Parts: sequence; structure tokens; C-alpha cells
Amino acid sequence: MRTDADDGTDLVRLHESTAAQYNLRAAPMRSDEAAPAHPASDSTMPDSPSRHDATARAAVRALAASQIREVANEGMDSPDILAFWFGEPDEVTPAFIREAGAASLARGETFYTQNFGIPPLRAALAEYLSRLHRPTPESNVAVTASGMSALMLVVEALVAPGDRVVVVTPLWPNLVEIPKILSAQVECVPLTFRAGEWTLDLDHLLAALTPRTRLVMINSPNNPTGWTLTSAEQRTILEHCRRHGIWLVADDVYERLYYREDAPAAPSFLDFADPEERVVSTNSFSKSWLMTGWRLGWIVAPPALMADLGKLIEYNTSCSPAFVQHAGVAAITQGEATVAHTRARFRRARDYLVGELARLPGIEVAAPAGAMYAFFRVDGLSDSFAYCKRLVHEARLGLAPGSAFGPEGEGFVRWCFASDEARLADGVHRLARFLGSAQIG
Ligand SMILES: Cc1ncc(COP(=O)(O)O)c(C=O)c1O
Repeated sequence: MRTDADDGTDLVRLHESTAAQYNLRAAPMRSDEAAPAHPASDSTMPDSPSRHDATARAAVRALAASQIREVANEGMDSPDILAFWFGEPDEVTPAFIREAGAASLARGETFYTQNFGIPPLRAALAEYLSRLHRPTPESNVAVTASGMSALMLVVEALVAPGDRVVVVTPLWPNLVEIPKILSAQVECVPLTFRAGEWTLDLDHLLAALTPRTRLVMINSPNNPTGWTLTSAEQRTILEHCRRHGIWLVADDVYERLYYREDAPAAPSFLDFADPEERVVSTNSFSKSWLMTGWRLGWIVAPPALMADLGKLIEYNTSCSPAFVQHAGVAAITQGEATVAHTRARFRRARDYLVGELARLPGIEVAAPAGAMYAFFRVDGLSDSFAYCKRLVHEARLGLAPGSAFGPEGEGFVRWCFASDEARLADGVHRLARFLGSAQIG
């Protein structure tokens, strides 16, 4: 429930990610793909095909458009659509965080900051991470303008064209597409869905992590499945990466949204990795502190990488806005109650939604260990993209197609449960009515 009466925004306007906003289909390959990128300009030359070709380079044109966004485009402008398609909490950022941002603006803090972030925020993050995981000096922490930007920066720092990058899928599409922007080869290792649960075949992953692999990216707890690595699995993966010199990037955005045990966070590579080794963690203020629109995140990286990360921050965003960083200081230093509230609220929402969905005919669903999505299987479903479009038009319900998260997601639908129970109940009611009348396809 939004607590800001004057907020006035409809949930359908909320967005999940930068890339999810790209509503463009990749253009087909051109016949002149091998032509030089910048042919000599000569106004006396006759028109050439390349002169009027104003498209992006091939790797960018080949990026997949977001199917989540395509489904949302079918109904975003209709106020009667009940939307759960994006990964975004429905509560406004807590007042003490907004006030810290507003106070910074009132002080006139409208200037560039240090590339790595303002000292109080780096210090607060270092203290927070040292408490949650391992002793972390602030010199190993870089503040970024979102978790998305953190991922992009790390991949820019580590991946060259042709490098082999391994990811575990189903997965938030941005993680699969980011390395492709750098012209890397992405290989997907699929989780398997057995008896209602997503599990990793660890041997399969280790076999994919060959000495020719540059980087493995793992999002745990995972969007969309909620699958979460155990600490023992993490140790095995890290040992293997060490043996082959493979970089490990952990996308820890959902680490505080973990429901399995009474642990303060999901198991993390940061709990035992050597601070000097090839392990990077990326994170975000978006989910646990309810700050999606602020665009604030961070990176924890080995000291040897930091100077180069600083250059990349300079050449990407230069810094995140000062007032946003001051809001971040409030979130980190005073926000444990917010995290606890968010986690308890999402756990209740998860239990409610999963319980309700499990009662519907032809739906297989299990309570996820972490993150904020129910990823459920629909009996007989072979085209989740078309199905979710039908849900928009016929049930006025906005969900995300499983196929958006990789081929293993086909047959599934993702529902973000970071929402109050009345909305969830209305959504379940709409789905039940639709299932009663629909032919699955
Ligand atoms: C797995 C995962 N990583 C990273 C992010 C990035 O979050 P943000 O860019 O809002 O910080 C998201 C957002 O949906 C996500 O689901």
C-alpha cells in the first residue's frame, strides 16, 4: 500500500529496470556489417547505403527486447489493469529516507561528488557490510547509480569481446543481455524444476565453468525463481573458480529478502571469499529499502580492481547524485527497521499468494526461499508470452511471461508479490475467473 496520499502515481507506471524500458525490436543484420565503423566522409561521394544507415552496432541491435515490457505495453495506459509484472515494491520510500534526500537538496548539495561516492555513504556501507558479512574497508566499496549500473560497470571492467560468460537461468533478462553489449558469448546453465522446486545441478554448472570462462554471474536469491544457493554450494563454486582463474560476480540485490531461515541475509560469497580474490558483489537500495526510483547501488570489489572501476564510473555516470547518496546514508544507518518490515511484509504476501495460487486448478507453485516473486507453472501452457497478453486483455491482470527469463521459463508465469493483500486477492480472483473460462495455450 502506498502511504503517500499525494503520490498519485499508478502502479502500472512503476518500472523494473533500465533495459526493460527498451521497447525496440533488434533490427535485422545488414549486408554491410563488415564495413568500417566510420567510413571517411566526403560530401562529393554519391549516397552510399552506409551513409543512410543510422542504426546501432550489430551487438546492440541483436539485444533481446524485454518481453515483460512488451506485455506491459499492452495495458500500461489502462487504469483498470491490475499490474504485478514489474519487480517493484508498492510502498513509497520511507519518510526518513526521503527527508534526508530533501535536506541535502535544501543544503544546496547539487554538485558532482567523488566517483566512488560521498565518504559518509562509503563509510556507512563498509560498516554495514562488515556487520553483515566480513570486515570490509570502505576502499573496497564503490557507490553506483543503481544495481543495474553496478552490473554494467563490472562487466565493462572484466569482459572483452568474445569472452565466455556463464549465467544460471531462468534469470532477470538484464543479466543475460549486459555481457552481450560487450560482445561476449553468454552461456546459460539451466536450473531444473522438480517437485515444485527449482534446483541447480552443481556438476552441470562446474562442467560449464571451463578454464576458457572469463566470468560467471550468479543472482541468488534469484529473480524470477527465488532459488537460493546454499553456503556449501557457494564454497564449491568458488573453489572451482579459483582453480580456473574465473571471475565470480554475485548479484546480491535480494540478499536481505530471504525467508528460509532466521538469518539476516541469504548465504553470500562475501561471507568467506578472500577480499583480494576475483569475487565481486553488486547490490542495490531498490528493493529492501524501497528505493527503486532513486537509482542507487554499490559494488564490493578487490582492491586491485578499484582504480579501474573508478575510471569506468567517471566515464559512465561520474557519480550518483549527492542528495540521493545522502538518502542512502539514512537508509543504511537507520534503515534496519525498514528492511525488517519489508521482509516480514513480503513473507506474509508470499505465503498468502502461494497459498491462494496453489488452490487454483492446473497451477503448480512453491514458496520461494527469497526475492519477491511467485514463479508458477500453468498446466499445458506452451506460450507464456501470448498467455500474459491474453491475461491483460481478458482478465485485466498484468503478469510477466516466464519465457522472458529464458527458455527454461516457458510454461511459467511470474507474479511480483511485493504488494498489499487486498491487491493480491483481487489479482487471484481475476486469474481464477480467467482460468475458469480460458483455453490454455
Ligand atoms: C536480479 C536483479 N539484479 C539487479 C536489479 C537492479 O536493480 P536496480 O537497478 O533498481 O538497482 C534488479 C531489479 O529488478 C534485479 O531483479
